[in-house]
Amino acid sequence: MYEETSAPIPNPAVGGAAIRCAFFPPPPANDAPADVKGLIDLILTRYHDTHRRELPQAIAMARKVEAVHAGDAECPRGLADHLAFMADDLESHQQREEQVLFPMILGGGSPMIRFPIGRMMAEHADVEEQLVRLRALTHDHSAPPGACATWRALVIACRKLDFDLREHMRLENEVLFEPFLT
Ligand SMILES: [Fe+2]
Ligand SMILES: [Fe+2]
Repeated sequence: MYEETSAPIPNPAVGGAAIRCAFFPPPPANDAPADVKGLIDLILTRYHDTHRRELPQAIAMARKVEAVHAGDAECPRGLADHLAFMADDLESHQQREEQVLFPMILGGGSPMIRFPIGRMMAEHADVEEQLVRLRALTHDHSAPPGACATWRALVIACRKLDFDLREHMRLENEVLFEPFLT
């Protein structure tokens, strides 16, 4: 499912300190491309495409864990539905960026661009709230001792989703959008 690596990744749960994870590759370096076209290409391939590929995998794992471990007190009940809600919400957000906002940015922008940017940033704030709930449902992205492989992979997928979404939104808010808001 995820490439195996022993590279350290920043863990938002511990204030950005590095942890080691054996299941997914490290995030990209924070030195985003300087040109707008390169930055948008990075956002599309590294984040939009990745979310579309990995969220359905996480939903399927959550459904399996919730079904198999329904009697377990630690079972992340409601996680699959929450991930499905996040996936639907994110899909419509990404489509608006791809079809409306990113073409406007590539065209050089206009004074009116503040409005779609403001809406996207408000939706990013909604995603941050969804991530808080995701963390609560997964008990801070952890699995109990002795959890099955699917459960362990599920919490790693959720931790990766948390990290990817935060970096995705940071790149958009602070790097891509910011020049149009000054
Ligand atoms: Fe995006
Ligand atoms: Fe966005």
